[in-house]
Amino acid sequence: MKQLEVRQTSDGSRTLYIPDLDETYHSSHGAIQEAMHVFIEHGLKFVAPKTKELTIFEMGFGTGLNAFLTAQWAQKNQREIRYIGIELHPVPKEIWTQMDYFQDEEEMYSKIMSTEWGTYNDIHSDFYLKKIEQDILEFQMAVKVDLIYFDAFGPRAQSEMWDLPVLTKMYALLNTGGVFVTYCAQGQMKRNLKSLGFQLESLPGPPGKREMTRAVKI
Ligand SMILES: C[S@@+](CC[C@H](N)C(=O)[O-])C[C@H]1O[C@@H](n2cnc3c(N)ncnc32)[C@H](O)[C@@H]1O
Repeated sequence: MKQLEVRQTSDGSRTLYIPDLDETYHSSHGAIQEAMHVFIEHGLKFVAPKTKELTIFEMGFGTGLNAFLTAQWAQKNQREIRYIGIELHPVPKEIWTQMDYFQDEEEMYSKIMSTEWGTYNDIHSDFYLKKIEQDILEFQMAVKVDLIYFDAFGPRAQSEMWDLPVLTKMYALLNTGGVFVTYCAQGQMKRNLKSLGFQLESLPGPPGKREMTRAVKI
């Protein structure tokens, strides 16, 4: 595991920084703010009304922030969600216990982070979580999903995540009508998504970022 440093972002919430990659896990303008805007507002809330059952796949489980915000939303809205998160380098306990995402729901966050890998576990009565410790480049899954939170490190740090082999895998993983959402707005990534048959929307990004991308499998 690479060295990790806990850092504060502009909305007061924390993120992790990897000196080797010179990359943070979230926007320095606000970790919670970015996750809420990109994944919850423009991903989850867009897809949830269109589907009966809802399965979400997350590329890059990391600190569990997106899973936690989704679990909170599921509880509040009494909407059953199955959530699969893949992560090659699980964040160690001595680090995730320093994250400050949970407000008054420490138990839910702890359960998400400490629950067993490789199997579905219920975090609460509407949220089933399966964390997979694997390299996305080797990942295969027969089950289809309705929504992908694509939260890889940016193209500068990890260009292979945004190239056709991984994006083709994401396309195959989605049901027809399924949605791929990411904070990234890079031109080459958008051309790659279009070439696969996705219909793209460029949406306003979270504070500090002009654009983000949502792509629908048509
Ligand atoms: C931008 S961070 C994810 C942030 C995360 N969603 C969160 O809220 O903390 C990207 C994540 O992708 C993981 N990752 C990097 N390469 C990977 C790979 N080949 N397969 C699976 N996960 C990978 C990193 O370890 C890191 O946790």
